[in-house]
This record gives sequence, C-alpha cells and structure tokens, in this order.
Amino acid sequence: MEHTAVLKIDDKEYSLPVMVGTEGEKAVDNRKLRAASGFMSYDQGYGNTCSCESSITYLDGENGVLRHRGYPIEQLAEHSDFVETAYLIIYGDLPNAARRKEFGLYLRQTAAIEPQMEKIFEGYPKNAPPMAMLSSIVASLAAHYPHLATNNFEKDLVNFDQAAAMAISKIRTIAALIYRYQRGLPAIPPRQELPFCDNFLHMMYSDPDKDYQSAPEVARALNLLLLLHADHEQNCSTSTVRMVGSSAANLFTSLSAGICALSGPLHGGANVAVIQMLQNIHDEGDDGTRFIQAAKSGDKSHRLMGFGHAVYRNFDPRAKIIGKACEDLLNKLGIKDPLLDIARKLEQAALREDYFIARKLYPNVDFYSGIIMRALGIPVNMFTVIFAIGRTPGWIANWREVAADARGRIYRPRQLYVGPLPRDYVEMARR
Ligand code: CMC
Repeated sequence: MEHTAVLKIDDKEYSLPVMVGTEGEKAVDNRKLRAASGFMSYDQGYGNTCSCESSITYLDGENGVLRHRGYPIEQLAEHSDFVETAYLIIYGDLPNAARRKEFGLYLRQTAAIEPQMEKIFEGYPKNAPPMAMLSSIVASLAAHYPHLATNNFEKDLVNFDQAAAMAISKIRTIAALIYRYQRGLPAIPPRQELPFCDNFLHMMYSDPDKDYQSAPEVARALNLLLLLHADHEQNCSTSTVRMVGSSAANLFTSLSAGICALSGPLHGGANVAVIQMLQNIHDEGDDGTRFIQAAKSGDKSHRLMGFGHAVYRNFDPRAKIIGKACEDLLNKLGIKDPLLDIARKLEQAALREDYFIARKLYPNVDFYSGIIMRALGIPVNMFTVIFAIGRTPGWIANWREVAADARGRIYRPRQLYVGPLPRDYVEMARR
C-alpha cells in the first residue's frame, strides 16, 4: 500500500514522502521540511527518529522480536556461536566453511598485542576504571596501525577485513590484559589453537606455569553472553559509533567512542548497577519487598535496575534466553548464589505489581547477565568490558554501513535554541 503524509502548519499543507522498511516499518521523511516550511521536527533523545536506513538488525519492541540479518536471536542463541554471529552481523550472511575458517584465522592472527602497546598499560593507575582504560587503549589502535585507520573511507574499506578482525580479537585481548594488570598479574599471551572464548578465559585465568582448564559450560556461557550482546539496533553506543564514523573517522576511533558511550549506567553499566542493587538488598536483609515499594515511588534513585527498556515494551527476548542460561549454568557448576534467588523474587514480585504492569516494565538482558558473569569469576568492574567485547561486531557492522554509503552525510542534528536573546557585551567593571 502506498502511504502519503500531509503536514498542515497553520493554513499551509506540506506533502512528505513516506519510507517503508522491509518489515513494514513506516517513517515520514522530513528531510526537506525545514527548507520548505521553516519548521524542524522535535524529538528529544531521537526516540521516534530513524537516523539511518540499516540492514543489520530488526527490533520490534512491542512484540519482543530481535533478528540479526533476518535470523531470530533465539535460533542464533541455540545453534550459532559468537564468532559466527559476529561474521553474520558484519558481512550480512552466515559464513560457509571456507569463509568461517578464514575469519577465524584472521581473529587468531590478530589476537596478540605488540610489546610497544603493552607499555600503555603501565601509564594507568592499577585502580583505573576498566572502561576508561579500554576506550583509550582501543583509540590507540589507530596510532599503532595507521595504515588501517587513515580517516578516508575508501582506503579504510580496502583494509576493512583486517581491521574488523583485529578490533574483535584485540578488544578481547585488551580486556584480559586490563584484568591482569589491575591485579598485578603477568600478561598471558593468546594461544593460536584455542577457540575465541576459551582463549579469552586462558588469557584471563591461566598462570604462567599452569594453564587454566575451562569447563565446557563456562566457555559456552561466555559465548552465549557475547552473542546476545552482539548488536542491538540504534542504541546509544551504536549511534555514537555511527555519528563519529560519519565524519570519516576510522574504525578504531569510532569504536573507542562507542566504548565511552557504553560505559554509562543507563546503557552498558546497567549490569553493574543490577549486581550492586541485588547485593544491597541482600546485605540489608530485604527479600526484595521493601525495594519494590521504593522502586514504585517513581524516584529515579530507586529504579529497579535491569528492568525496563527504551525500546522493548513487552519483553526483552534476550532476557528470556539469558535467565534460563543463568539457572542452567549455576546448576551445572553447582553454585548457589543468593543474588539469583533475590533476582527471581524481585522479578516475580515486580511482574505482579500494577506499577510495573502499567508501565510495561520487564526484566532486560542485564537483569541476569551479571549473575552469569559472577559465576564465570568476572569481577563486577569488568562487566561492562565484557559487554563491549560482545557489542564490537554490531559497532563494526554499523561503521561499515556508514563508510560504504555513497549517499551518506555527516550526522548533524539540529536543536531548538531556548537561550538568551541577543544582548550587548558588558565590561567586567559594570557587571
Ligand atoms: N524502575 C522503576 N520505574 C521505572 C523503571 C525502573 N527500572 N524504568 C522506568 N520506570 C518508570 C519511570 O519512572 C516512568 O514512570 P512515570 O511514567 O510514572 O514517570 C516510566 O517507567 C517510563 O520510564 P522512562 O524513563 O520514560 O522509560 P525510558 O524508556 O526512558 O527508560 C530505561 C528506559 C532503560 C533507561 C529505564 O527503564 C531504566 O532506567 N531502567 C533501569 C536501567 C537499566 O536496566 N538499563 C538497561 C537497559 S538494557 C541495556 C541496553 O540494551 O542498552
């Protein structure tokens, strides 16, 4: 069906084109509205604004649907793994055996950190926030590999395969090195023969004289965790990557900006806030009842962390998968985590409360991801770093769309100015 949109402002009408996506999503194209009418559109935080066309991820928040390149997240979680899903997200299709092997080889070859780069770590205090370290060390990749980071789309796209694999592989290695640096432990180099997640666990937990033996369910849980975070449409960090990339900034620089955006507690830092909340509830001897009452006050300082989502209004499909995986993992490892019991109680209580039902607030992916990470031995201050490893393929795919779009333009939103009207400068002595 053809759609038409007519906007009437005072006594004038403006016809606006309507764009329709492959899933039937509709958008009114108001790019020419200002030129035609002098009016802009206002959408604080871009909540109802399509900033781009994208063929990577489809998200239907009302119905809890998440698909990457057409594949439902539930199927990917069940049958795929992080590296294969990363390939799918970046290149648009599942790899055949030869492409998968080639991609895996690239990841293995680019895993190690140059000795010169290792020196960067020593410039940080041992207690530096890991996300601050990660963002700046990733930015430094542009300095270490300038031939992959020319700030020229055409040239950077020629070397894209190498830069993309390097980013995924090295962000994981840098994460493990941050963990070890903070503990005063010597760096453990990657091992070529290990699969992606096992290699990460090896770099985190091996001793120089004794290799870490990971239980298969540990690597599997990490794989699932990373896969579930691999992309999520135009969230805050991904939009940041696109915005920075739209100035023709290279991949590494754009990824570093994405990591900064992810570090905030309302985005990637929410998994930390969830664990802190559960721990406080536990320490105060509350079973969650008192906390739920406070969360219903509407006071932002008492939000039920891990609940609600800017886009999902029914359920977060990732939360369903991860909630179950969390329980399975703890059972298999024989771990009894009191925080999981509190989380389950909170979830059940909140889902019965009118306040949460009326506002369509449900657990999001972060509600259980922290409990899985605790079970994997990952300290709370590294949670968001793990999220960053997982989200890297999505950021890369989005950067590539921006770089490859011949019709693309620099991202440059407008604003509604509400400041002072013109006034004359006043000399200091007369103020
Ligand atoms: N606990 C209690 N009340 C809440 C919560 C919550 N977690 N989230 C929203 N509300 C209330 C809010 O007070 C408002 O009430 P009222 O209509 O009476 O003013 C109503 O629900 C709508 O809230 P909103 O702030 O308009 O919702 P939003 O879409 O702007 O915010 C959110 C989304 C994720 C920032 C918010 O739900 C939140 O702060 N959640 C906790 C933090 C969290 O878990 N973040 C992780 C998001 S998932 C990770 C990712 O994909 O990046």
